[in-house]
Amino acid sequence: MSSRIAILADSVADQIAAGEVVERPASVVKELIENALDAGASKIVVEVESGGRSLIRVSDDGSGMARADAVMCIERHATSKITDVSDLIGVGSYGFRGEALPAIASIAKFELETAADGDHEGTRLVVNGGRVDSVEPVARQIGTTVVVKRLFYNTPARRKFLKSKAAESRAVVEAVNAVALARPRVAFKLIMDERGVVDVPASRSMEERIDSLLGPDVAGGLIAVQYAEGEVKISGYIQRPAEARPSGRKAYLFVNGRPFRDSFLVRAAEAGYRGAVAPGDRPSLFLALEVPGDQIDVNVHPSKLAVRFRDRFLIERCFEEAVRNAINPIQSATAITTGTGKGRSF
Ligand SMILES: Nc1ncnc2c1ncn2[C@@H]1O[C@H](COP(=O)(O)OP(=O)(O)OP(=O)(O)O)[C@@H](O)[C@H]1O
Ligand SMILES: [Mg+2]
Repeated sequence: MSSRIAILADSVADQIAAGEVVERPASVVKELIENALDAGASKIVVEVESGGRSLIRVSDDGSGMARADAVMCIERHATSKITDVSDLIGVGSYGFRGEALPAIASIAKFELETAADGDHEGTRLVVNGGRVDSVEPVARQIGTTVVVKRLFYNTPARRKFLKSKAAESRAVVEAVNAVALARPRVAFKLIMDERGVVDVPASRSMEERIDSLLGPDVAGGLIAVQYAEGEVKISGYIQRPAEARPSGRKAYLFVNGRPFRDSFLVRAAEAGYRGAVAPGDRPSLFLALEVPGDQIDVNVHPSKLAVRFRDRFLIERCFEEAVRNAINPIQSATAITTGTGKGRSF
C-alpha cells in the first residue's frame, strides 16, 4: 500500500493555523488594535464595513515599521516583542507570538502602509491570501495603517460561521470598548459603515473613559474600588447595588493592562455583593488587577483572552473582598438613613 501521510502545503497549514487566531472580524480588530498599542500609538482609528466582512481598516500613529520589517511582519513567528520563551514571563506587550498578521494576511486581501521615524519614504505592502503581490514606496506620516478586505474569502467553511452583520458589528464594538477601557490615555475612534460609533479623546483615568465611552448614565451609577493585599492590587469601578439589574450589565476585567475573560472572577466579584443586591441582579464591573508578571501566564489560548493565575484562590478571594469593601460604606450609609441598622434588606 502506498503511503497516505503527506505534509500539508505551507499555505494550507497557515490557513488552518489562522482559524485559531481569527475567529471573526472582531478578532482581527482586536489584534490590529493591540499591535497599534504595542507600537506606542496615542490615537487609533478603526473603520469597519458590513460588520467587518467586507472591510476593516486600523490606522495608528505609533512607531511604524522600516521596509525590511514591513515585509517581515507577515511571516509566521516573526515578532519584535520576544526572543526567548523566558521573555513570556511578565511579558508587557499584548503581542508575543508573531502570529496575528500572517494569520490575517492568509485569509483576506491584506494591505499595509507604514513609515517609521527617519524613513525618507514609507512602504506599502499588498498580500492576497498569504501571497505577497507588491511592495512599493508610499508617502505617509509615521505610523501604520492595515486594511483587511473580504475576510475569509478563501476559507468558505469559516465564512459560513459568521453571524449576522448586526452580531458581528456588536462583537467589534465590544472588542474596541474592552481595549479602550484598558488604555484610557489612548484616543480611539470607531467608524462603522461611515457612522461614528466610538469617539473618545485621550482620558486621564478609567473613570473619565467610562464616562466618555459608555455615557454618564453608566458612569454616574458607579463606586470606586481600591484594594491591595500583598502584591495583588485591584482598582476600578463597580455598579452601586441599588442600580444593579438582572440584564444588560457590563463586566470588564483587566490584568496588568490586558483585557481578559474569566467567569470565575466575575462570580467572585458578584459574591462580594452578597446580601446587597437582589438574587438575580447582575451588577456592572470594571475591575483592573495588577499582579507581578510571574504570577500569570497569558499564553493559554490563541485568542489571548484567557489568563492562568499561579494562585487562583487568592485572586478570587481578593476580587470578592475588593467588592465587599467598596460597597460596605454605602451599605452602612443606607442602613443609617433607613434606620434598620442592618443594611438593606430585600
Ligand atoms: N501597527 C504596527 N506598528 C508597528 N509595528 C507593527 C504593527 N503591527 C505589527 N507590527 C510589527 O509586526 C510584528 C508582527 O505582528 P503580529 O501581530 O503578527 O505579531 P506580534 O504582535 O509580535 O505577536 P501576536 O501574534 O501575539 O500578536 C510585530 O512584532 C511588530 O514588530
Ligand atoms: Mg500582534
